[in-house]
Amino acid sequence: MLPLFVLVLRIMIPNKIFEQSIRRYFECISPYMDDDSVSEIMINGPDDIWIEVSGKLKKTDAKFANADDLMGGVKNIAQFVGKTLNELNPRMDARLPDGSRVHVVLPPCARNGVSVAIRRFGEFDLTLEKLMDYGSINQTAAEFIKICVQMERNIIVAGGTGSGKTSLLNCVSLQISEDDRIVVIEDSSELQLQQPHTLMLETRGPDAKGRGEVGIRDLFHSAMRLRPDRIVIGEIRGGEALTLLQAMTSGHGGTMSTCHATYPDDTLRRLETMSMMSDIEMPLRALRSQVASAIQVVIQTSRFNDGSRKITHICEVLDLSENGEYQIYPLFQFRNRGNNKETGKIMGEHIAVGNLPTFLPAIRERGLHIDEKWFEPPPDYNG
Ligand SMILES: Nc1ncnc2c1ncn2[C@@H]1O[C@H](COP(=O)(O)OP(=O)(O)OP(=O)(O)O)[C@@H](O)[C@H]1O
Ligand SMILES: [Mg+2]
Repeated sequence: MLPLFVLVLRIMIPNKIFEQSIRRYFECISPYMDDDSVSEIMINGPDDIWIEVSGKLKKTDAKFANADDLMGGVKNIAQFVGKTLNELNPRMDARLPDGSRVHVVLPPCARNGVSVAIRRFGEFDLTLEKLMDYGSINQTAAEFIKICVQMERNIIVAGGTGSGKTSLLNCVSLQISEDDRIVVIEDSSELQLQQPHTLMLETRGPDAKGRGEVGIRDLFHSAMRLRPDRIVIGEIRGGEALTLLQAMTSGHGGTMSTCHATYPDDTLRRLETMSMMSDIEMPLRALRSQVASAIQVVIQTSRFNDGSRKITHICEVLDLSENGEYQIYPLFQFRNRGNNKETGKIMGEHIAVGNLPTFLPAIRERGLHIDEKWFEPPPDYNG
């Protein structure tokens, strides 16, 4: 028992020191770091600090005493997380002990002075059930997502910046069975899977001499050799897209990730373009056909002008059409009825569009509960 206690103390104490020293440097924003209603803190130089509350941006009166204090603070974070932040490496991704995600850009790249965005994850106990309470999804669509995970569909969660992709991927990945061995790959650890057999891998930037970089693609190769039942990748941003597609089509079913794109067909084209960034060349038609057969379900999320996040589309991806076009097969969507004139809130509802899942027979064969009624559109739906 004692050695375990000592080990826990060893792990805890550096974090405690880290937290205290951050508090000291970032005292002026400390109240926001403790406020669960604040989802993001944005520092645009020492005296221009904004926060996001309930999806809306607000300027604060907080200020750093001077530019050096702010610089000292971000250098302190860099030191604790073992990253290099200087003129040659003026950008940094990091994670604070409370799980917040930090991105820093130094001048002269950042013209306002040291610029920092701190994404807080106060709400990171989000679940599909909570998303229903928030009106981000309805019950039948949520049930369908659970089935997609159980049926080991390859899923991409897509959306714009801050649209809730990572949060949604977390909710989706929470549906993975506890019996599965899950390998999670991220640039900067944000996902919080609860399953007991989860292996978390994190990329690493190069050192000051440009050595030792370990990218998503490297970790992906490792993941495939670590006997995964499931691979979850935080976000696809570049040439690793091709590795992902190849894994998805070569028996690693039930793989999931996120991608920055606004509409489902845009998502497929983004994956195609990112795959071209890899060093392997492939004819466009072959690449497209790989995208179409690898990605089975696209869940699209969006941030609306009232600050809410909603799932706007759930679609299947069919094989390429004869003339080589992507074919999206929509199942659910959000019908936007505009903003309420008094509250400003987005009105509307999630609806089915009248298509049955293509893999319905397989779902039935597996004995999972599914009702064709979930997929019936409302009587006034006209396509
Ligand atoms: N359904 C939701 N309802 C309300 N708030 C949400 C919802 N989903 C996410 N959020 C909040 O929105 C913010 C952005 O979420 P998240 O980090 O998941 O977005 P993202 O699309 O992954 O962002 P990025 O593009 O920066 O990676 C977080 O503060 C999160 O708590
Ligand atoms: Mg994200």
